[in-house]
Amino acid sequence: MGYSIVQKILASHLVNGVLKQGTEIAIRIDQTITQDATGTMAYLQFEAMGISKIKTELTVSYIDHNTLQTGFENADDHKFLQGMAAKYGAFFSRAGNGICHQVHLERFGIPGKTMLGSDSHTTTAGGLGMLAVGVGGLDVAVAMGGGSFYLTMPKVVNVRLHGSLPPWSTAKDVVLEVLRRLTVKGGVGKVLEYGGDGIKTLSVPERATITNMGAETGATTSIFPSDEVTRYFLRAQGREDIWRELAADHDAVYNEVLDIDLNDIEPMAACPHSPDNVKKVSAVGSPDVDQVVIGSCTNSSYLDLMRVAAVLKGRTVHPGVNFVIAPGSRQVYAMLAKNGALADMVLAGARILECACGPCIGMGQAPPSNGISIRTNNRNFKGRCGTASAGVYLVSPETAAAAAITGKLTDPRVLGAIPLVEIPESFCIDDSNILAPAENSLVVEITRGPNIKSLPIAEPFPGEIAGPVLIKVGDNITTDHIMPAGAKVLPLRSNIPAMAEHVFAPVDPSFVQRAKEAKVGIILGGDNYGQGSSREHAALAPMYLGIKIVLAKTFARIHKDNLINFGILPVTFTDPVEYDRVEQGDVLEVNNIHACLKDQLDLEIKNKTRNFVFKAHAQMTSRQVEILMAGGLLNFTSGRQ
Ligand code: F3S
Repeated sequence: MGYSIVQKILASHLVNGVLKQGTEIAIRIDQTITQDATGTMAYLQFEAMGISKIKTELTVSYIDHNTLQTGFENADDHKFLQGMAAKYGAFFSRAGNGICHQVHLERFGIPGKTMLGSDSHTTTAGGLGMLAVGVGGLDVAVAMGGGSFYLTMPKVVNVRLHGSLPPWSTAKDVVLEVLRRLTVKGGVGKVLEYGGDGIKTLSVPERATITNMGAETGATTSIFPSDEVTRYFLRAQGREDIWRELAADHDAVYNEVLDIDLNDIEPMAACPHSPDNVKKVSAVGSPDVDQVVIGSCTNSSYLDLMRVAAVLKGRTVHPGVNFVIAPGSRQVYAMLAKNGALADMVLAGARILECACGPCIGMGQAPPSNGISIRTNNRNFKGRCGTASAGVYLVSPETAAAAAITGKLTDPRVLGAIPLVEIPESFCIDDSNILAPAENSLVVEITRGPNIKSLPIAEPFPGEIAGPVLIKVGDNITTDHIMPAGAKVLPLRSNIPAMAEHVFAPVDPSFVQRAKEAKVGIILGGDNYGQGSSREHAALAPMYLGIKIVLAKTFARIHKDNLINFGILPVTFTDPVEYDRVEQGDVLEVNNIHACLKDQLDLEIKNKTRNFVFKAHAQMTSRQVEILMAGGLLNFTSGRQ
């Protein structure tokens, strides 16, 4: 029996376990990346492990999220991160150099390597044939220290692309179709491995758009083969020497197969407020548009923006539309400037933002109240854009450009002939904004401004817990609901006491007060609790507030791992109908926790307020049980129990 690409990479990196679906395996990690919203905490955690040098083949610390500097906080973080990278052996990509995933594709990614990133869209590198997984910062810190990454052997889904895309249909529309079919939880426990004759028609940046937004299905990651298309891209980046072919065996066996005919793909839109609320643009109607944002790690490559420039050339942005474009990297920006495409954008009426995440993470450019914003991002959760009453549609760059011109959500096919744009034979290469680690780490001083607070550490997990349900929430609660981002909160990422003041602020602003009064508490969630970003602050800040248990119908993968990593017990209802019988304010009591977890038995939870008992199950490996008992991964890794 042959191997899939996923099995090949896992087999060549296997440290522990066997490649049997559903069992725990440990793999060696070649590369790690962090960004500044999660990186400060990851580096504090790495430091707390007492390891003198980063042990991966390559680690890069990117500054791309918190680039707005309205106060000292972000600048403090950036200075700290620059010093840590120099001292411990990481490359440092300065603010303005670009969004981590775009820059990593261009300058660092290597086919066949494994990568962990403290950002859920680390999966973008799958477009280059990497097995790249988004995790919490603590998992990255452990990998930086040479530790293995533990995961449950996923199902491998073969997504077979056939044919080729019609004019105006794009890679973004392909991944929106995948989301329409799989929904935001259809990829949980799976890796999406792309194949079929259609892949050769997609360039690396287009493949990366698809693997980027695979994260929205809940998949562990997505991956494309490494072929001549990959080789061409790497040659144009001056990196052909690291290319290697990577293909599935002809008799590879997959757990599932998904067929997509590219010829049938039309321009699509994910409608408010979920990335899987996908419809054909032609079927949405033509709502008036207040804002258009082109950028983000999903759609800000040279190819994307050249196509946008070609659509805009000689046209004028509609007077009712506020139109911004953020190039994904300094390389992209420089090339647009050199070849005149930037002038086409500016003359059409676009405002150019710096090369960073910006509006995608709510750092500026909030749309007006009740406004309609058309974006090329990957997420449109309510309020993420900075305006709770706004509706965000996720579309391709071409559809976004069409909306900017017409002032309405518009099927771009009405614009007529599509301009032809292809990957250039060589990109503009200048790595001067990427700083190499110091040759002599002993001379590097680490600067810790007042925004760099010490790390909260959890106590070992207790054997009994009694506490109130501090909040009851519904299905698909995102990490943006639990720990919001945006210009006000993001700068506090390295200051947990200040950050904790905002937990659940978009859902229930009185949550924090209740948590402080109760000192110990429980969160009650519905299906797919914790979907969205990898931000470990959505576990760390609740831990700081005394949350001991999250009881939900089901969990999103990264968030569940983050809860365990920070000493919070994630449990699911044995019978989900019990969810309806528990209310906010009910006092729950759980005894005999250690023995039940060790023996993989259901926990008996007593609802003391309503006087009944129900069962819940902790789906954790024995290693995860040990981590939880220790009070989290940091205690576990450093033997601090
Ligand atoms: Fe940045 Fe948004 Fe991607 S915050 S990493 S551009 S999902």
